[in-house]
Amino acid sequence: MWTFSCPLIVYGDGALEYLAQVQGKKAFIVTDKNIVKLGLTKLVTDQLDAVSIKWEVFDEVEPEPSLNTIKKGGVAIGKYQPDWVIGLGGGSCMDAAKAIILLLVRPDLEPDALSVTETYNFRAKARLMCIPTTSGTGAEATWAIVLTDTANDRKLGLGTTECMPDVAILDPVMVAGMPPLITADTGMDVLTHAIEGYVSTWGTSITDGPGLIAARQALEYLPKAYKNGNDLEARKEMQNAAILGGMSFGNSMAGLGHSAGHALGAIFHITHGRTVGLFLPYTMEYLINGSEETTARYAEIARFCRVASGSDKECAKALVAKIRALAKEVGQPLSVKDCGIDKAKYDESIPGLIDRALNEVMTMTVTRVPGEEDLEKIFRYAYEGKSIDF
Ligand SMILES: [Fe+2]
Repeated sequence: MWTFSCPLIVYGDGALEYLAQVQGKKAFIVTDKNIVKLGLTKLVTDQLDAVSIKWEVFDEVEPEPSLNTIKKGGVAIGKYQPDWVIGLGGGSCMDAAKAIILLLVRPDLEPDALSVTETYNFRAKARLMCIPTTSGTGAEATWAIVLTDTANDRKLGLGTTECMPDVAILDPVMVAGMPPLITADTGMDVLTHAIEGYVSTWGTSITDGPGLIAARQALEYLPKAYKNGNDLEARKEMQNAAILGGMSFGNSMAGLGHSAGHALGAIFHITHGRTVGLFLPYTMEYLINGSEETTARYAEIARFCRVASGSDKECAKALVAKIRALAKEVGQPLSVKDCGIDKAKYDESIPGLIDRALNEVMTMTVTRVPGEEDLEKIFRYAYEGKSIDF
């Protein structure tokens, strides 16, 4: 049995006005200090004030939120007892909101014990809304929660299907001021979700549609949004691409680019989108070299996005080349070396990188599952910027 789930999506100009239609008394807003400083929290609270919904802001979420932060949020939400929880920000804030709402009903739990198999029934107390301020993670349309175990430099994939937000609000005003670097980092995440979701062994014809459109929109509109942040059409299309990417991989699974990227990000503290986007072309080459099935799937994306025509292999390779060209165009690193990581430190970390990648479920949901030896080669090739030839 398979299911496809997604929130009610409110999008386009004026989408924030939907807040005035919300039934509720108290909203608990999970965000970070930068979002507050940028005035984006006020855009939300002004709407809540207009309909006399009380609110409290928890603004302590850091990038790649730690277990400790979730614990603090759990204490604050326990005191406030809201009937809405709003994750406002990038993926970190939205993931933190999903974890904190579980602690509203289970304050006894440690955040790393939030489990996929447990039932929480948090909607008996509060509903969950996400308002993204980046166009990347698609966390507004996925139930997964990624937290960081800072003591062990490890990312934890937690959450339960219950954590699918009830509502996602995509208002272009929330992303209009995003700087080019964040636009590029998060945009590469969109592209990676779209492509990895489309070739995942857990993908189906239900998840194919969102994945294809997300890939097409990201390829076309990411460079535009990067070059001109005021291009509102590009901003809106990237918001749409981000949520479609989330609907695609969130209802199938991401792949090797995410496994390798998570590992690199956990050890070297580089943003999620930059790391997964970096590994995307290398891991695509690895799958092209070993899987005709996945090569044919990449070719479908390439043809749909009008990147190339010809044989499956030609199209798949053209898609890889297109992704590298796009990454270069939006100032992203093409190799691990480009990230400024010292070679000796990287070499030392290889066993840790392999161990982390092997422990990701996403390593298992591809048509060519790498063992330790291949993962080591992928990590070494990616450092040098060498195309995968095995
Ligand atoms: Fe991602």
